[in-house]
Amino acid sequence: MAERIFIQDMARHVGAEITLQGWLADKTDKGRLQFLRFRDGTGFIQAVVFQKEVSPEAFDAAKKLTQESSVRLTGVPRAEPRAPGGFELSVKDLQVVQIANEYPITPKDHGVEFLMANRHLWLRSPRQHAILRIRARIIKAIRDWFDNNGFLLVDTPVLTPSACEGTTTLFATDYFGVPAYLTQSGQLYNEANAMAFGKVYCFGPTFRAEKSKTRRHLTEFWMVEPEWAYGTLDDYMRVGEEFVSYVVQTILQERAPELQTLERDLTKLQNVTPPFPKISYSEAVEILHTHGYPDFQWGDDFGAPHETVISEQFAKPVFVHRYPTAMKAFYMALDPHDPKVCLSADLLAPEGYGEIIGGGERSADLAYLEKQLAHHNLPREAYEWYLDLRKYGTVPHAGFGLGIERTVAWLCKLDHVRETIPYPRMLEKIYP
Ligand code: 4AD
Ligand code: MG
Repeated sequence: MAERIFIQDMARHVGAEITLQGWLADKTDKGRLQFLRFRDGTGFIQAVVFQKEVSPEAFDAAKKLTQESSVRLTGVPRAEPRAPGGFELSVKDLQVVQIANEYPITPKDHGVEFLMANRHLWLRSPRQHAILRIRARIIKAIRDWFDNNGFLLVDTPVLTPSACEGTTTLFATDYFGVPAYLTQSGQLYNEANAMAFGKVYCFGPTFRAEKSKTRRHLTEFWMVEPEWAYGTLDDYMRVGEEFVSYVVQTILQERAPELQTLERDLTKLQNVTPPFPKISYSEAVEILHTHGYPDFQWGDDFGAPHETVISEQFAKPVFVHRYPTAMKAFYMALDPHDPKVCLSADLLAPEGYGEIIGGGERSADLAYLEKQLAHHNLPREAYEWYLDLRKYGTVPHAGFGLGIERTVAWLCKLDHVRETIPYPRMLEKIYP
């Protein structure tokens, strides 16, 4: 039996006899030549079965292979610049594991509804393969950046007794007779962890009962959230631009073939280097007034079309800082020069992708936070531990959250976040 190897390692095995184990993606029948497009999970390769070079049984089996049949191929790979992936396998032997019954996702075009209902199978396609390999590399780049820049990974809970980002999007569950909520953000715990460890981050799934059906909203999404003691709004924007630039440049270097599969225009990503432009909310409102939204009211939240217009003025992601205090969560620190606005900032991605980061400087002031909890109708008992942080050595501190799915959608230039996560959870969508 030849050595089993994987398509992703093919370059090291040119000229040697090897065995691949995987599935038939597609086939072209040219009589005495059978061209198999074969995949093993790590990549795709063209395999050629020539009648004269295999046993009659093996050739017959090759002719009968259906899409997604499982099969072992033994043969010799050679470099073939014209073949997708750069290699071609000359098949010597072939062993069928199972002939697949009519596979529902054929090479013809299918509607998104159908593909979403078959998400468990759709994951096998080259496009989903490229997107999810980019996702995995983004996650590794994120971890590398924080690990290499002095942040300690400190995990935060999924089941929580209280809200972080307002009470309207909470998923409630019964926790032995008392209500508990799926976390909307690890931030409040991050703040405690930052007081214990200085610079921390958490990375995990977060949940929002979003009733909105948009191309950017999931009910379950992954977020990385750094938080650090003695941090300010300006520190946050500096960290954010360094971090995001590192992630983008890493993907350009490490996932070039996948970006090519997705036909991604790279020039806009190559631009993503520090520093990023930084404008205030009030300046952003002025941009809206002169670019098609003369009636936009100071104090209103930006919708997707507004974010697109603002980001179109810049070649890089842009920070919008100092939003109206009333628009943002209870914990935001006030701007000492103008308490109508708070020390918050969002990062808007180019090309119409909108907000990918939200964050800011947190209030370090016990009396102010007590007032804010009451003002936002949040039950003080559930936040006593959080208030403790302002009693025992309170310091200025800052942090932010980057949404993984919106980042993947932007880097892959996808129309919708549903393809950025293996099993998307959305309004009216929990199967498969
Ligand atoms: O702006 P958000 O709500 O900020 C927070 O949760 C802060 N507590 C984070 C922090 O400071 N530690 O969410 C942060 C990011 C957004 O910019 C967006 O990228 C993503 O999380 N996000 C969503 N992604 C997909 N679907 C949703 N429903 C999302 N809601 C937020
Ligand atoms: Mg936000």
